[in-house]
Amino acid sequence: MEEQKSQVKKKVIFSAIQPSGTITLGNYIGALKNWTNLQDEFNCIYALADLHAITVRQNPKDFKKNILEAYALLLACGVDVEKSIFFIQSHVHTHAELAWVLNCYTQFGELSRMTQFKDKSQKHADNVNVGLFAYPSLMAADILLYQADMVPVGADQKQHLELSRNIAERFNGIYGNTFKVPDPYIPKTGAKIMSLQDPTRKMSKSDENVNSFVAVLDKPDVIMKKFKRAVTDSDARVFYGDGKEGINNLMGIYSSVTGLTNQQIEKEFEGKGYGDFKVAVAEAVIEELRPIQERFDKYIADKAYLKECYDKGAELALRFSQRTLDKAMKKVGFVIK
Ligand code: TRP
Repeated sequence: MEEQKSQVKKKVIFSAIQPSGTITLGNYIGALKNWTNLQDEFNCIYALADLHAITVRQNPKDFKKNILEAYALLLACGVDVEKSIFFIQSHVHTHAELAWVLNCYTQFGELSRMTQFKDKSQKHADNVNVGLFAYPSLMAADILLYQADMVPVGADQKQHLELSRNIAERFNGIYGNTFKVPDPYIPKTGAKIMSLQDPTRKMSKSDENVNSFVAVLDKPDVIMKKFKRAVTDSDARVFYGDGKEGINNLMGIYSSVTGLTNQQIEKEFEGKGYGDFKVAVAEAVIEELRPIQERFDKYIADKAYLKECYDKGAELALRFSQRTLDKAMKKVGFVIK
């Protein structure tokens, strides 16, 4: 029975994150903590989406540093190269190749309707490049190459995943079954973490106000200071409720790192003020991040180990994805060498 069970193929999960300079507590709680939790139950394939990152201009030196740091940080967060495939997107040439093919099965109109494209082309009005426009078809290639069953994505990527499904269905419709049509994976837990300064907005590393976000690599005293400055309300009672976005957000953070329910948190802080609560949240976050920061320091100092990990990831990813790319190209009619 046990044996039979282990022979049932695990479902494939694919996800990727861009190697931006700062990985925030929001990224960690909203995505990365989940990535690590999924590794036993599923066949997980994770990528650092460096090809996506150049859709906005990058300084070469910083970019390189950010890629290595993000790779080390994800390892430190618990992405396990023994259990999962974890690679750097640009190391696996099938991604750019399938993306080109898929570009030819993606309509101009569809890409024009992507809200992220509209937002980003406003934000980077001086560099509305074709890559930014075609970003979702590269993302579709990432996912479809691995025949992924499920993709954990935040709200901001849902429209892109929907488009990936449409592209897969369209291609399958023309050529017969080629790509698995991926479903979104909705995590059981994982609150959406909001800005500490404006809790109606998502926590973002690109916020001009550095007090609005906590970076996973922030030092303990910095984390404490940022939580102490977090915007709350004048109610001074720790409970979850309407109009208490600041407190709701702090409760979400506290709940994610301690595993306590909102009710338990309300009980713990009954009769106590916001000051005590903020310190408790900060301390819990500091303790959660401490081992991650220690592992990060170790990995980032060991470039040979990092290379060993990403080389292995790229090799496995290539082997897997090449099969899908060949299949797709054959269907289109390319002469396969
Ligand atoms: N676009 C995603 C983001 O910025 C990153 C990403 C690239 C991704 N390829 C993907 C996410 C494939 C899920 C699946 O968050």
